[in-house]
Amino acid sequence: MERGQPLSGVERGQPLSGEEPDVMRLLREGSLEVEGRLVDASNATLYCTAALGGVQVAAVYKPVRGERPLWDFPDGTLAGREVATYLVSEATGWDVVPPTVLREGPYGPGMCQLWVDVDESVDLGVLARSDHPDLRRMAVLDAVVNNADRKGGHLLPRPDGRVQGVDHGVCFSVEDKLRTLLWQWRGTPLGAEAIDVLSRLRAELEGPLGDALHELLTRREVRATVSRVDRLLAEGCYPHPSPDWPAIPWPPF
Ligand SMILES: Nc1ncnc2c1ncn2[C@@H]1O[C@H](COP(=O)(O)OP(=O)(O)O)[C@@H](O)[C@H]1O
Ligand SMILES: [Mg+2]
Repeated sequence: MERGQPLSGVERGQPLSGEEPDVMRLLREGSLEVEGRLVDASNATLYCTAALGGVQVAAVYKPVRGERPLWDFPDGTLAGREVATYLVSEATGWDVVPPTVLREGPYGPGMCQLWVDVDESVDLGVLARSDHPDLRRMAVLDAVVNNADRKGGHLLPRPDGRVQGVDHGVCFSVEDKLRTLLWQWRGTPLGAEAIDVLSRLRAELEGPLGDALHELLTRREVRATVSRVDRLLAEGCYPHPSPDWPAIPWPPF
């Protein structure tokens, strides 16, 4: 990966005076400077900095123009699906997706997502099979958004022990397409926390969250999302892989 020079703490947006920088504002309004392209990425995925008021954060910028057309995702944009997944993650309160916005950039409109430094010593193969609580949450999120691409490289183990996920362009199909490495809890009870969160999410899908998703997805896709939440609540268990489609991404990492 060509990411340019590592950024210092201040450049990464760490506070100068003890105050948290407003990351959302930096991502939305900061001036975007492309530093390099992530060479192992399948679309035009650019490593950038977003700067505002003397503070800078590292970010990923994926211009819509760089999206490869996909026959099974004909509507909207992959960038919009990434933002929609962030909005659902935020509504869960689980914080398993880095802040993500839609904005103009040097190559036109696209998604812009906070760059997350990872702990390079973590073995993604071991992590992906583990019982990490953030991965359990991510598995529920993936079932809700119908993620068709939860591969190992889309897991970001942070130095503080938290895990977040990225690359949510192929989510929200109306067909069941859940494709993930995270099958270790299949058929087991979701647990009280997830049931609680899903019940709240169900209500929020009828309110502002639903309205926001309608800006990014088709009506059928939003309806299908509501149905997936209903199904999870009715079954009370993590989903099983379907025999009807490849349930593991290829390549897996
Ligand atoms: N927000 C992020 N923070 C840190 N690393 C990221 C972030 N987004 C992507 N990456 C890294 O860049 C790689 C390629 O990005 P990805 O979103 O998968 O692009 P593509 O849609 O082209 O596959 C990811 O596998 C991950 O290693
Ligand atoms: Mg990817």
